[in-house]
Amino acid sequence: MCVKHMRSSSIIVFLWATIALGMAIGSDPCGSSENEIAVIPILGKCSPFKNTSSHVRTWDESVMDMASNDPLRIQYLFSLDASFRKKPVSAAPIASGQNFNIGNYIVRVRLGTPSQLFFMVLDTSTDEAWVPCTGCTGCYSSTYYSPQASTSYGGSLPCYAPRCAQARGAQPCSSSNSNACTFNQSYAGSTFSATLVQDSLKLGLETLPSYAFGCINSVSGESIPDQGLLGLGRGSLSLISQSWSFYSGVFSYCLPSFKSPYFSGSLKLGPTGQPRRIRTTPLLRSPRRPSLYYVNLTGVTVGRVQVPLPTEYLTFDPYKGSGTIIDSGTVITRFVEPVYNAIRDEFRKQVKGPFGSIGGFDTCFVKTYETLAPSIKFRFTGLDVTLPYENILIHSSNRAVACLAMAAAPNNVNSVLNVIANYQQQNLRILFDTVNNRVGIARELCN
Ligand SMILES: *[C@@H]1O[C@H](CO)[C@@H](O)[C@H](O)[C@H]1NC(C)=O
Ligand SMILES: *[C@@H]1O[C@H](CO)[C@@H](O)[C@H](O)[C@H]1NC(C)=O
Ligand SMILES: *[C@@H]1O[C@H](CO)[C@@H](O)[C@H](O)[C@H]1NC(C)=O
Repeated sequence: MCVKHMRSSSIIVFLWATIALGMAIGSDPCGSSENEIAVIPILGKCSPFKNTSSHVRTWDESVMDMASNDPLRIQYLFSLDASFRKKPVSAAPIASGQNFNIGNYIVRVRLGTPSQLFFMVLDTSTDEAWVPCTGCTGCYSSTYYSPQASTSYGGSLPCYAPRCAQARGAQPCSSSNSNACTFNQSYAGSTFSATLVQDSLKLGLETLPSYAFGCINSVSGESIPDQGLLGLGRGSLSLISQSWSFYSGVFSYCLPSFKSPYFSGSLKLGPTGQPRRIRTTPLLRSPRRPSLYYVNLTGVTVGRVQVPLPTEYLTFDPYKGSGTIIDSGTVITRFVEPVYNAIRDEFRKQVKGPFGSIGGFDTCFVKTYETLAPSIKFRFTGLDVTLPYENILIHSSNRAVACLAMAAAPNNVNSVLNVIANYQQQNLRILFDTVNNRVGIARELCN
């Protein structure tokens, strides 16, 4: 929907924005075109999960709410450890009785023939796709996938199939065993058990035949996304791997501003239609956490100051799985504590104060000081990204304060993982090229 490239002139940005608005009016903002799939904010206009209650929260309150689930997300990312891969998942949820929702963006996916529609959470750090299936025990879903109702249903994979061994949490299987492939996983404090099945998967206009995904049979806990999840990670069961012959391991997305729920961003699959002249940084891979998209963050500039950072917390270590990742499921960027503290202290020095806390945000100040808020630049190998202002501050409309929209990673998770999150990715086109191993980032207005 938004075909724009980085421009420095504000006139051109205005022009582009006007064209984008025209295009949005002219077409279905919730729909998909040839190689663009709408990426829908979970509380946005096109989402079936938007809050229709009479006390609808303001966008900033919703973001603050969502950000409060980040520690759970970081815990999940930490758990994606290949050395634990074969260990069975215990059935006990980490936190029960609460309805966590750690998916912030969803895409429309159709499964089977005739197609069954799902609004699945888009997750760049998970490989598998999964949906609640008919007969699921413990599911509280609004929609279930019914294999019986699909003529293209390809059955379950046997547990000795090579694909089965690729699923995280796959159940043990002996060579004489012809049982169906099942896998148990934990997600956001819930655990589930799923059978690996095959059916056609339709995204936009393209249909991928015999897509292998999890059909959830049982859930414990209440935080499994209502209509399932689509994994765009780097592992063998992810959309990127399974669609290799269609999309050649290349995709990009643009996340719309949290502030404008009326817009949908876009997911573009495949090399066609991608920005050609985009600055890139090497894409790194860790055998310890093979699903994640690592980049080399080498520094952070606040205003004109290059913040002195303890580099041991930025260094990419493939064997430890430490470094920096780009993730679509964490709300605000989380740095390992010593890194965050250094950035925050420099930011505070320039804004002056006084500062207070709201929820997980520890650098909130009265709006009148906002003009003093410095720009923030993330420096990656070969690529500097200056964050747009709306990606740095979050405002609380009723309390007349602004907060620095970043935080320290929870310190109970000793993961040494810095996570570049959604709030800092708004209105940027992020290109993942797993063939040439590079990540491109450029400004694009997609709201
Ligand atoms: C909808 O808003 C109400 C009132 O703010 C809140 O209690 C409820 O949890 C919200 N529901 C969702 C799904 O966010
Ligand atoms: C996987 O989950 C199912 C359903 O909760 C349970 O019966 C089974 O024991 C679990 N398997 C392992 C190895 O934890
Ligand atoms: C990351 O950047 C640092 C600083 O430029 C460099 O020394 C290091 O080799 C880079 N690491 C990788 C994996 O590219």
